[in-house]
Amino acid sequence: MNPDRPEWADSIEIVNAEGVAVTPTSWRPLGHDDRVAVTVSGIEPEILVVSTDEGLRAIANVCIHRGFALDAATLLTEHDENHRSGTTCIKCPLHGLILSLDTGLACRTGKGQRIPTFEVAMQTPPDK
Ligand code: FES
Repeated sequence: MNPDRPEWADSIEIVNAEGVAVTPTSWRPLGHDDRVAVTVSGIEPEILVVSTDEGLRAIANVCIHRGFALDAATLLTEHDENHRSGTTCIKCPLHGLILSLDTGLACRTGKGQRIPTFEVAMQTPPDK
């Protein structure tokens, strides 16, 4: 096993639009131990899987604003002083759009274009 790959990445499955858990066909380490980019047959684009305090979250790895990859984005949690949404969000590094990892909508307004989010199934929960 590649030591850069999070242990939990070995057992993740993404739930597709039909509600079926499918195993990623490839993965890409991102330099963080809390996230990995995966590709899944039949799902475009690449999916970003993030380990959060609330469990694993998965979101399309492309910002709805101008299509920038979200894999280098900043995670914002309830522990961050200026983040009061009550849910973990991701801040795009290009122009700063903040998206909810739960809904895929803009974090502050809960409105606008929705970025696809996915359920993540695990056989063994991560030790976090
Ligand atoms: S591309 Fe993400 S905020 Fe502009």
